[in-house]
Order: sequence, then structure tokens, then C-alpha cells
Amino acid sequence: MIRSVVRGSGSALPRTVVSNAELAERVDTSDEWIVERTGIRQRYIAEDDETTSSLAIEASRKALEAAGIEAKDIDLIVLATATPDQTFPATATIVQDALGCNGGIAFDVGAVCSGFLYAMASADSMLRTGMAKRALVIGSETFSRILDWEDRTTCVLFGDGAGAIVLEAQDVAEDGPGVLASKLHADGAHNQLLYVDGGPSTTQTVGKLRMKGREVFRHAVVNLAAVLEETLAEAGFTSDDIDWVVPHQANARILDATARKLGLPAEKVIVTVDRHANTSAASVPLAFDAGVRDGRIKPGDLVMFEAMGGGFTWGASLVRL
Ligand code: UT7
Repeated sequence: MIRSVVRGSGSALPRTVVSNAELAERVDTSDEWIVERTGIRQRYIAEDDETTSSLAIEASRKALEAAGIEAKDIDLIVLATATPDQTFPATATIVQDALGCNGGIAFDVGAVCSGFLYAMASADSMLRTGMAKRALVIGSETFSRILDWEDRTTCVLFGDGAGAIVLEAQDVAEDGPGVLASKLHADGAHNQLLYVDGGPSTTQTVGKLRMKGREVFRHAVVNLAAVLEETLAEAGFTSDDIDWVVPHQANARILDATARKLGLPAEKVIVTVDRHANTSAASVPLAFDAGVRDGRIKPGDLVMFEAMGGGFTWGASLVRL
């Protein structure tokens, strides 16, 4: 059967690290509050010369190197972002040109923090139907550009970065590697609980991020547990079979609560929220690449990716490496 197989991953972070203590000099907050409520200790913040496309290009180059695949052999780029370089063209086309693989398919996906799951499922569908052979699936964000740096309820939570994976269509055995199942959902009734208060069609400004954090938190735990169960059932596995969960990194308490609901030991959850904070669409591939490069995630492992974000949107993908 034809499956989309993960060939390699890469990631990129801005040069500048900002600690909780540094933020406490700008807004009325403290290292204690941020660590206790979120698990975040620091975040990477892009300088003026670091953009969503530049981070995506760096992460993609590393993913191609890890995969042993040349850029010219990539015929599909799906880039998840809520902070594109420009309103259009798609940031994916800027990445395509920089990598020198022009001519294939390239587009952006907007599903905010679930963007990488939406991008991965889109690429997987296109690879399995033969529209493309090798894909770069990227999550890249510069959320620092859309934060209200005077709003302590949001500005302490987010960071910048990018992650990428290379997916290749391969003819594999039933118990072989590849994306085994993906489930995506959205519930637009909650689209004003986490949003940006600007845009080209309304205010003609970029706008700033606004969030009702406590309500997002409540929905996140319920929705994530449900989509994880649904994805496992579709693939015919149980939570005991999972080697690693690679979750969207919004809040350490959401990671703990979701793992508890599924009866998964905390040791099976890849956690980077302490270092990266919430990097929206970049957080899942950033965490995956961290787990691969530090040797925890290995070939043959059964890995669950999951995320929930603005819209609300949420989803999960079960992958055999
Ligand atoms: O990535 C997309 C998905 N996003 C998420 O999943 C985020 C989900 N939400 C959360 O992670 C949490 O709700 C937050 C971390 C955003 C907030 O934690 P919380 O435990 O829900 O706190 P809260 O909003 O209920 O606020 C508790 C108190 C409030 O003060 P009062 O009203 O009790 O006096 C806030 O004003 O904490 C205050 N507060 C702060 N204090 C110090 C809020 N932000 C801060 C801050 N520093 N940065």
C-alpha cells in the first residue's frame, strides 16, 4: 500500500532568547506565575532580519539533509502559518524559490496552532493519491509580531520558530512505516475565543492576538483526548501501543491533563514548552525534531502528533516511523 513515510526532520529557532525574568521587566508578571501556570521558562523571539520564511527555509534545509533528499526532488510544499511574510503570496512559494525546487505544488495552510496537523493531513492525502511524490511539510511562525506586548495574559505565552518534515510516498507493507491515520476537526462557534483583531479585509492592519485563555484551556483538554481516542481507533491501536506523543506545546498543564485522560505516562510525552513556549503551527514539528535529535524518538516508533488552536481547530495523526 502507498503511505506517506517520514524521511527526516529539521527545525530552526531565532537567535535571541527571552527569559521570564526579562518579560517581568516589561509587564506585570513574574517567573513564578509563568512557570506555575504554563511550564514556560523562556521563548525565542525573532529579530527584524528573522522572518517566517527565513526560519522555514533553515528548518527545511535541515530536514532535507536529515532525509538525504535533494531540494530538486521536492514536488510539494505545504506550510502552516498564521504569521505569513506577506498577505500573499503564500510563504510556501518564498521557501520553494529559496530552496530551488520551483515547479511543483506550494501553498500555505491556516489552522493556527493545529496548522501543522492540517498541513500534514493535506500532504498525506496528496501523496497517497499520486499528486506528488515528496513533500516538505512545514510549520513556521513569528507570533512575536502579532502579540500585544502590554497584555500580560497573552504576551508571556508565545514564541517564534519553525519545524519541518520530509514525507515521501512509498509502497510499504501493512505493518510498515508511514502515516497510519489522521483526524481533523473544527468548531467555528468558538472562533472569537482566540483570534487576531485585524486583517486585510476588515481593519487593513495586521492586528494583535486576543485570547480567553481559561475557556481555550477547558476545550483543549476535552477535544484533544477525544481526537486522540478517535485516531487510535481508526488505526486499530490503543494508547498502550504509543511510543511517543508529540503534542502542541501550549501549556504544560494541558499536556499533563491530556496524558492523564488517556492513561499515558508523562515519560512518553515530548515536552519543549519550557524552552520554546507556544510557537503555534511550529510547535509540533519543533518538538518532534527535538525528540529525534536527542535520540529519544527512533525508527520503528509509533508516534502520535496532536494539536488544538484558534477556530477552534484540532487534530491528530498517528505515524509509524
Ligand atoms: O495554542 C492555542 C491553544 N492555547 C491554549 O491552549 C492556551 C490555553 N490556556 C492557558 O494555557 C491558560 O488558561 C493560561 C496560561 C492562558 C492562563 O492560566 P489560567 O490558570 O487559566 O489563569 P487565568 O486566566 O484564570 O488567570 C488567573 C489570574 C488572573 O488574575 P485574577 O483575575 O485571578 O486576579 C489573571 O489576571 O492570573 C492573572 N494573570 C497573570 N498574572 C501574572 C494572567 N496572566 C498573568 C501573568 N502574570 N502573565
